[in-house]
Amino acid sequence: MKNDILNRTDIILLVDTFYGNIQQNDKIGPIFTSVAKVDWAHHLPKMYDFWESILFGKATYKGNPMLVHFALNDKTPLQSAEFETWKSIFFNTVDDLFEGENANLIKQKAQSIADLMHFKINSPQPKIKIV
Ligand code: HEM
Repeated sequence: MKNDILNRTDIILLVDTFYGNIQQNDKIGPIFTSVAKVDWAHHLPKMYDFWESILFGKATYKGNPMLVHFALNDKTPLQSAEFETWKSIFFNTVDDLFEGENANLIKQKAQSIADLMHFKINSPQPKIKIV
């Protein structure tokens, strides 16, 4: 029996493991390492705040993920294949480490944000009006 995601320490483990797995993935790893050249020391704490805000309602994350991904999509297309890969790595990472109500909830949240992001990226309207 695995533990559920109960606090920030659990979120940190999830996020660190997720981005470790992401970097090893041939399809989307290079988007992070070569295209965006992510500064991990900056990105990871932001992602702890993001998921803590989503899962536990703490208002620690300040930012606009949609705009960040619109800008990224201008450099390299974010399409179904990329989103499916992102989701499958996220779900597998959650399932490897945790089980329970919050583990299920974080997967549902990830799924809906990913689907919304994908939809907005492919939306024909001017980007600035649909944020
Ligand atoms: C195709 C799928 C995705 C790719 C390739 C991708 C890639 C990236 C990259 C390269 C960054 C910028 C990091 C930096 O420059 O510091 C980023 C930021 C971020 N991503 Fe994603 N992402 C994807 C999907 C998602 C999804 C589905 C979510 C949420 C469920 C998400 C949440 C975030 C957040 C919160 C940030 C930080 C934004 C900020 O700077 O405030 N991403 N992503």
